Amino acid sequence: MARPAGRLLGLCAALGVSLTLAQAADPPAMHGGHAHHGHQGHQGQMHQPVADARQPVKFPAPMREHTLASMRDHLAALTQIQQELAAGRFDEAAETAERRLGMSALPVHGAHQSAPFMPAGMRAAGSAMHAAASRFAVVARDASVTGRLDKAVGALAEISAACVACHAGYRFE
Ligand code: HEC
Repeated sequence: MARPAGRLLGLCAALGVSLTLAQAADPPAMHGGHAHHGHQGHQGQMHQPVADARQPVKFPAPMREHTLASMRDHLAALTQIQQELAAGRFDEAAETAERRLGMSALPVHGAHQSAPFMPAGMRAAGSAMHAAASRFAVVARDASVTGRLDKAVGALAEISAACVACHAGYRFE
């Protein structure tokens, strides 16, 4: 759990979330004193323009809109799964994952239509996410018997790690 969470934070940093915060909280007082030197050095790096190394991908406009809408639903689904896990509703979490993110979700997402527009690596990242969601569903159903929340949370992190991996590599043109 710690490592994917770390990667998520790293991604936020790479996306400049910290950059904005750092600039907002950059009073002159911060520039003096030993204690801040290491910190400043780190933020100094963050002030460099962050090169966007993501590969641009061109989808036809309607497909792009449909994909972004389904992305927003992915995030909503992840949130719902976390709420269901927190409430100990493992079977519902499994159902949400399978239906909205898993292999069963592929036709809903128009994966078949959009796949030809994706570079091979992006297609693989998409398949990895759907597979991780289906694996999570199995682990969550097991957890409804064993009570192993830790296993379920670990499997959930593998879904979000798959989101992160694709976002790190690709963007729409
Ligand atoms: C196969 C690649 C891929 C996977 C897997 C993926 N995404 Fe995305 N997602 C994208 C791309 C490409 C964009 C557009 C990014 C850009 O152009 O800057 C995007 C955008 C988004 C957006 C912004 C939507 C908007 O309206 O602008 C959200 C939210 C999002 N994704 C959530 C998720 C979540 C949550 C997951 C995992 C459950 C996920 N995505 C998995 C490729 C992916």
